[in-house]
Amino acid sequence: MSEAMWGGRFSKAEEKSTQDFNASISFDCRMYREDIAGSLAHAAMLANHHIISQKDLEDITSGLKTIRKQIDDGEFPFSVALEDIHMNVEKRLTDAIGDAGARLHTARSRNDQAAVDTHMYVRRQIGRLAEKLIAVEESLLEISKKYDDVILPGYTHLQRAQPVLFAHHMMAYFAMLARDFRRLEDCFYMADTSPLGACALAGTTYPTDPQETAKALHFSKCYGNSLDAVSDRDYLMEFLSFASICMVHLSRLSEEFILWSTSEFHFIELDDGYCTGSSIMPQKKNPDICELVRGKTGRVIGHLMALLTMMKGLPLAYDKDMQEDKEGVFDAIDTLGFALDIYAGMIRTMTVNGEHTRAVLEGDFSNATDMADYLAKKGLPFRKAHAVVGQAVAQCIAQHKVLKDLTLDEFRAMSPLFEADIYDAIDIETCVRNRDSYGGTSPAQVVRQMKEAAETIAFMKKQAAEWKAVSAFLE
Ligand code: ARG
Repeated sequence: MSEAMWGGRFSKAEEKSTQDFNASISFDCRMYREDIAGSLAHAAMLANHHIISQKDLEDITSGLKTIRKQIDDGEFPFSVALEDIHMNVEKRLTDAIGDAGARLHTARSRNDQAAVDTHMYVRRQIGRLAEKLIAVEESLLEISKKYDDVILPGYTHLQRAQPVLFAHHMMAYFAMLARDFRRLEDCFYMADTSPLGACALAGTTYPTDPQETAKALHFSKCYGNSLDAVSDRDYLMEFLSFASICMVHLSRLSEEFILWSTSEFHFIELDDGYCTGSSIMPQKKNPDICELVRGKTGRVIGHLMALLTMMKGLPLAYDKDMQEDKEGVFDAIDTLGFALDIYAGMIRTMTVNGEHTRAVLEGDFSNATDMADYLAKKGLPFRKAHAVVGQAVAQCIAQHKVLKDLTLDEFRAMSPLFEADIYDAIDIETCVRNRDSYGGTSPAQVVRQMKEAAETIAFMKKQAAEWKAVSAFLE
């Protein structure tokens, strides 16, 4: 008979390589609080339904609390031979309290146990990530307010297109992250479902009550199908797609910060605290953090692909492949959490070179659309106005000047519709102020966005506090 917890059927111990390859303790140990909470709730339910005695429950409860303290204090001897967090805790408990510990696994399987731990773990992390995401939203709003009069070129095809308010640009990222928060709400809803009680795959012959353990673990609901309960990893796919999309947003912002902080753009300067130097070139100040966030986005997307691929061929119900669900999810939680933390500080502390962005706009053709609109508003069909301005731009380029450098006579030679007010119409401030359509870049529209953003942040904070409260019993 082998020493393992399933040793009865085996005539010899597993190979060392089997043990090492099979083990998940190196990573699932981070769910120890969830595992112990799940066992406490399970034991209480068993006692309530007279499946174990009250005395067993007392011994199990105090034994598990001792183990939790040992792990908290870094004094628990994790063993690879015991494969995972579930068997490490159970074996230790049984060593300490004897048969009562050996009764804990009645009407339970590691399949529903691993699943309930992961649900609780992800649900708890959603509360933490929500707070970090809100901190980035707050810094986006803060920097928008701080530089609310800065105008910079807006781009399409990375070619200067039309002037926009810096705050408008930042509020676009605010909107992206606000959608990420919405996705997180769905992730929470999905994770907030208890699989405990499904046992191995088919439920149990004992008179258990999965609703009772769900309630004790602060789940709002439990799975209605035991096969689904132990083999559902949709909530993790959804979480990883949330994390991937959020990283993609941060990655796009990274790309802009990297470009904007080049000498060529010189639109912003990142705070020294968020940059690094070169070991050889003394003049360098590198945006490593932005580059790393952009780079790490690939690995979070990779975790999503890995999980989808791992799941696509699996028959019901539990398959050991599913143990592969955790490392990618854990790494995505850590990576995204880190990126959000550092971005909150980096955005808040950066400097925007408003005078330079303004000078850039004074020397380019970002106001060409406004010149065409000027003619169109005076009755010239827009397509014809477009052609007139196109020729004006070509003429200016040839003469090394910009539109506002044309004399009124030169304007009038192009179209008799031009009058002296053309100069005001193509002034950069006017270009921005007049884009007052809903969602446009006018100061009025941007002020509205910022006002709504403050309301959104208040809503998010309330939601995050509720999520944190649900997992408070695990802290
Ligand atoms: N460590 C395992 C996992 O994370 C626990 C479940 C194992 N169940 C089993 N029947 N081998 O998936």
